[in-house]
Amino acid sequence: MNIHTQSSDPFATRSDLLILMLDTKDNKARISPTIKKFDKVLDGLIGSLISNSDISGNEGEMSLIYTPNLSVKNFYPKKIMILGMGDFSLLSTNNVRNISASLVKKVKKLKVKKVHLLNEKSVYSKKLNLEKFSQSFTEGLILGNYSFDKYKEKANSGNLEKFTFLDSNEQNKKIINRSIKVGSIFANAEILARDLVNEPGNMLSPSDLAQVAVKVSEKHGCKVNILEYNDVKKLGMGAFLGVAKGSDRPLKFIHMTFEGDKSSPENNIWLIGKGITFDSGGISLKPGFGMGKMKGDMGGGAAVIAAMEAISQLKPKINVNVVCAATDNMPSGNAQMPGDIVKAYNGLTIEVDNTDAEGRLTLADAIGYAKDKGASKILDIATLTGAARIAMGDGVSPIFGNDENLINSVINAGSVTGEMIWQLPLDNVTKKQNFSMVADIKNTGGRGGGSTTAAHFISRFAEGVSWAHIDIAATSMLDSDRDWYVAGATGVPTRTLIEFCINL
Ligand code: BES
Ligand code: MN
Ligand code: ZN
Repeated sequence: MNIHTQSSDPFATRSDLLILMLDTKDNKARISPTIKKFDKVLDGLIGSLISNSDISGNEGEMSLIYTPNLSVKNFYPKKIMILGMGDFSLLSTNNVRNISASLVKKVKKLKVKKVHLLNEKSVYSKKLNLEKFSQSFTEGLILGNYSFDKYKEKANSGNLEKFTFLDSNEQNKKIINRSIKVGSIFANAEILARDLVNEPGNMLSPSDLAQVAVKVSEKHGCKVNILEYNDVKKLGMGAFLGVAKGSDRPLKFIHMTFEGDKSSPENNIWLIGKGITFDSGGISLKPGFGMGKMKGDMGGGAAVIAAMEAISQLKPKINVNVVCAATDNMPSGNAQMPGDIVKAYNGLTIEVDNTDAEGRLTLADAIGYAKDKGASKILDIATLTGAARIAMGDGVSPIFGNDENLINSVINAGSVTGEMIWQLPLDNVTKKQNFSMVADIKNTGGRGGGSTTAAHFISRFAEGVSWAHIDIAATSMLDSDRDWYVAGATGVPTRTLIEFCINL
C-alpha cells in the first residue's frame, strides 16, 4: 500500500472514496465547516442523516454516500464516507489506530483501490498532535490491511493500493510525511514478525530464521553473527543443546547488533526472543489437538528480529543487541529425556522434569550469554506458558522482572502502542516451586502460577543484571480478528520494543 500526502481541492479529487471525519461532543455529531461544504452540494443529506440518527459519529462508524450523478460541476469523488471519530478531543493513538484499521478492513471488502482522507484541523489536540495522529493512522492502515495468503491461489480479499492524506497546509504535509515514514517503519516491522509467526514449521527452520536476521542486517546496516552447533557446544550452552538434541534440523544462535552509541558501550539493551521454530513438546509430547499452533513458538524471536529492522532505521542513541537461540523441540531416539540433568552456560545444573518446558532452557543460555557480553539491561520475550492465557486472557501480556524502572518503561511503551502489558509479582512462595532434589533448579514448578514459576526459573539466570521478561504465549496469535489485528499472528510486542528502545 502506498500512503502519501496531497494538497488538492477535495471536490476536484478523483477519488474512489473520499473520507470525511466526523466529530462528536457529548455523543452528538458536530458538523465541521468542511463537512458543511459537502452537505451543501448534497442538498443537506448529511445533516438530515444526522438528525434522523442514521449517522451518530461514534468511534468507528462508517457511513457511505454514493454520489454518481451529482449535478454539481467539478465534483469528482465517486463515493464519500462519513467516518465517525467519537469526540476529537478524547482521541488517543489507540483509538486512531483502531479506527484506521477498521476503515481499511471495510475498504478491502468494498474492493476500493484509491482512498483519500480529508484532514480536519480540529482533530489534533494537545493530547494527540498531528504527528502522533498521522503515525497511528498509518499504523492502523498497514496493520489492518495485513493478510497471510501467500500459499493460497486466490487471495481472501482485495488490497488497498493507495491512501492519501489531503491537506493543503505545506507545514502539515511535512509533518504528515514524516509520520507516514515512522508509522510505516513501526507497522512493517510488526508485519515481518507476523509473517514469521504465520509461516509453518516446514517453511521456517532455525536456518531460515537466521537467514531472515542476515537479510535484515544486510538491508539496514546492523551487524549479525550466527553461532553454529560447534560454537554453542564450545561455549557450554548445555541447556540450549539439550533442547536441540531431538531435531534433525541444525540449531542457530542468532546475535544481531545495532551500535547507536559506540563511544559508550555500557549504554546497551539486549532483546532476547524465544526461538522455537516448532514445539512438539519433545518426549513430553503435546496432545495433537491444536499442536499446529506451535509453529508460532518463535514469536519472541520474530518480534526481536523485527524490532531490530525498525531500530536500525530509526537509529536511537543506544546500542541494541538482539539474541535468538533458534531450534525445534522434537522427540526422537536422540532427544532429551525427562529427568535429564543439563548444565547451563552459567554453570547452574537443571533437572529437565518436562521436555515441553523448553523455552526457559533456551532463554537461560541466551541470557547467560548476554550477561557475559556485558549486557546492562535484558528484556526477554517468549511464548512461554499456556498459563499466561489462564492468568490474563489474550489481550494482555504478563511482564516479570527484577527492575521496576525497566518494567514500568516497557509497560508505558505498551500503552502507547496499544499492546497491553501488565506486571505479575515474583513472590517468594512460587519461587520455591522450582526446587529440585537432584540439581540446582528444576524446569517445572507444579500447577499453581505456571507463568510465574517459568519467570522465576529465568530470573536465576539473570541475577545481577537489570532484567524483565514478557510472556506472549496468549497474545502472539489470535483466533479471530480484533482491533488492528487479523486472525493469526499479531506481531506483538514488536512495536512496543521499538517504542521502548527509542525512549531509552
Ligand atoms: N510453547 C509452549 C507454551 C505455549 C502454549 C505457547 C500455548 C503458546 C500457546 C511452552 O513451551 C510450553 O509447552 N509450556 C508448557 C510448560 C509446562 C510443561 C511446564 C505449558 O505451558 O504447558
Ligand atoms: Mn513447550
Ligand atoms: Zn514452547
